[in-house]
Amino acid sequence: MAEYDYDVLVIGAGPGGYVAAIRAAQLGLKTACAESHATLGGTCLNVGCIPSKAMLHASEFYDAAANGAMEEMGIEVKPKLNLDKMHAQRLDAVDGLTKGVAFLFKKNKIDWKQGHATFQDAHTVKVGDETVTAKNIIIATGSSVTPLPGIEVDNDKQVVVDSTGALELKSVPKKMVVIGGGVIGLELGSVWRRLGAEVIVVEFLDQLLPGMDGEIRKEAAKIFKKQGMELRLSTKVTGCTVKGKKATLTLEPAAGGDSETLDADCVLVSIGRRPNTDGLGLENIGLELNKRGQIETDHDFRTKVDGVWAIGDVIPGPMLAHKAEDEGIACAENIAGQTGIVNHDVIPGVVYTWPEIAGVGLTTEDAIEKLGDKARVKTGKFPMMANSRAKTNHEPDGFVKVVADAETDQVLGVWCIASVAGTMIAQAAQAMEFGATSEDIAYTCHAHPTHSEAIKEAAMAVQGKPIHI
Ligand code: FAD
Ligand code: NAI
Repeated sequence: MAEYDYDVLVIGAGPGGYVAAIRAAQLGLKTACAESHATLGGTCLNVGCIPSKAMLHASEFYDAAANGAMEEMGIEVKPKLNLDKMHAQRLDAVDGLTKGVAFLFKKNKIDWKQGHATFQDAHTVKVGDETVTAKNIIIATGSSVTPLPGIEVDNDKQVVVDSTGALELKSVPKKMVVIGGGVIGLELGSVWRRLGAEVIVVEFLDQLLPGMDGEIRKEAAKIFKKQGMELRLSTKVTGCTVKGKKATLTLEPAAGGDSETLDADCVLVSIGRRPNTDGLGLENIGLELNKRGQIETDHDFRTKVDGVWAIGDVIPGPMLAHKAEDEGIACAENIAGQTGIVNHDVIPGVVYTWPEIAGVGLTTEDAIEKLGDKARVKTGKFPMMANSRAKTNHEPDGFVKVVADAETDQVLGVWCIASVAGTMIAQAAQAMEFGATSEDIAYTCHAHPTHSEAIKEAAMAVQGKPIHI
């Protein structure tokens, strides 16, 4: 009789966990996955990437019809919002994709143990009433919304909501205040602005989108303001009272000073996410968390406890679905005795606003800090206004910026604001994986007319010789 029920038990069926389970099964390992939610797919498929993109995509069409962008191209339509139908197509997308994961589990003979998993020891987990043993256990429990002290989220009331509540609003709020000018705030703030809400973003820092290149952050702020979003930078929220369907927030300058109040019909709290480890029984296996509440691993995704591995949002690094997926694959391969590697220096990030904002690798600021000398970093920029396809499509906003090592010409980072920046950034990530120089990109033939030509021209600008500006 086998020593354990399974070779691999994955805890959590988000993009990290479900992908790890599939790869483990593909490699011939007997695999189970514990997931407490009623459907598979985790945050990403149920309340994250997928439903938010469904709302972003639909609201983009509405906005294009409402703001004159379609009329500019000779299409005269007066849009009428059917919010119920917009929500229905969102739920349809979620339903189709979560069922798709269930189908893949069946196809790969992965047992889904439905329930909350708690470690009993390093090879034994209780899932609901069932005890499951496994030689290897992968923790892929993801993350959830960071609460803001003093502000109570109640998604049912739809007045103070988190990202899950903001996806499900039954009517367009007249005035929405977004706390946190990060990825969620800007994406979901954009959805409701496009559908008619007045949106005010309150951000603690002096710029939006921490972690992105400085010039990109400034340009993004300019574009969002032009679109009608009000930005209150360097401002903190210190309190919130709710009366019926109205919220009143108290704001203060981040550096301290006089407070003021701001009324809203809806408040979105989007100040970050934190790892899910509550009730996981980590104390039973002697696994400690770092200061940020994350589980630390080595490069192979091993924790300090033999046989216990961890991936995705619950470990350090950007909280992104594709990062979790790649770690899932690598972790399963390492368990199977192969060499699974994730290059954490080349993880693209995309904000799916209009236009999209994307980046990979080092920002200019990080590159200067890393190389220790401003002169060691050279950059090249190319405006989308000068890109023939973007210009033809009436998409003039944004630019591409390539950051390179001045000595070796190796590309260190690429940053874009463009309608299809999320698609464009893949070529930059691939070039960086292959150790490309800016000259390599500048001399790679790009199809015309495409937005991607702007990456080529920005690389040419690093060389000092773009053609179209
Ligand atoms: P999760 O997806 O969080 O999955 C963890 C799973 O574990 C959950 O299903 C949970 O129920 C389960 N679980 C937790 N504890 C236990 C337990 N003890 N027992 C059993 N089950 C447990 N990322 C992108 O890359 N692109 C995007 O466009 C994007 N959009 C987003 C939009 C929103 C609104 C949000 C909130 C997030 C978005 N993200 C996006 C981030 C992305 O969703 C996460 O990075 C990703 O889901 C992390 O995957 P994971 O597998 O680590 O964890
Ligand atoms: P975030 O970390 O992107 O942004 C949070 C923002 O809130 C920061 O700008 C921060 O300075 C600000 N902030 C923090 N405390 C504040 C306070 N008290 N008052 C005002 N501002 C405050 O976090 P967000 O937007 O909640 O997203 C969480 C995670 O989900 C992100 O790490 C992101 O990786 C992931 N995500 C990814 C998406 C994508 O890839 N397109 C989409 C949505 C989420």
